[in-house]
Amino acid sequence: MLVYVPPHPLIKHWVSILRNEFSPPPMFRSAMAELGRLLIYEASRDWLLTVNGEVNTPCGVAEVEFIDPREPVKVVPILRAGLVLIEQAASVLPANQTFHLGFVRNEETLEASMYLNKLPEKFEEGARILVADPMLATGGTIVSALEEILKRGADISLIRVVAAVAAPPALKLLSEKFPGLRVYVGMIDEELNEKGYIVPGLGDAGDRSFG
Ligand code: PRP
Repeated sequence: MLVYVPPHPLIKHWVSILRNEFSPPPMFRSAMAELGRLLIYEASRDWLLTVNGEVNTPCGVAEVEFIDPREPVKVVPILRAGLVLIEQAASVLPANQTFHLGFVRNEETLEASMYLNKLPEKFEEGARILVADPMLATGGTIVSALEEILKRGADISLIRVVAAVAAPPALKLLSEKFPGLRVYVGMIDEELNEKGYIVPGLGDAGDRSFG
């Protein structure tokens, strides 16, 4: 499995705003959306399908390359907090479709359970799928989400996960289960506390976004 933390000062900046417990919800949300935009840009490198053609410029003819409109990226936000991370996806990805997945983690057992599934019955061959969840803590949520996606014919080597912060237990579980996966993350933190929160982390991304 490839885990990529883009070495960019803007990524560090937006993660820092997210970490600050005094960032109010509107600031938290816009920092998460901006971080998502940058991570999606990184994740879509060498991944999007293109078509070649020619266009007339005001001064001549140019050979050009466009994103193939027939191959929209399937964007899968994991509710709730994933919605904020993909807020700017449509401005980065000229062709995209969104399929919502809702998961909630039990505060005591830390087990994830699904309450909403808008995935298609089957993904077509070659589908590029971008899964967004700001926090990868125990990894239970993201693993369950990926299992749902794979049941529908997706190819793990064409799936990219974007996350704001990841903890070692989630990365370990993901790499054991999905060696072919690629994960793009703003920051990797050290550990989880006894309540399953990432430390130092950002707190509860869903609550900080939506109150
Ligand atoms: C949080 C977070 C992830 C999940 C990570 O969601 O946004 O989806 O927990 O935990 P895990 O890796 O241990 O499974 P939460 O259940 O709080 O839902 P929310 O986004 O609606 O707040």
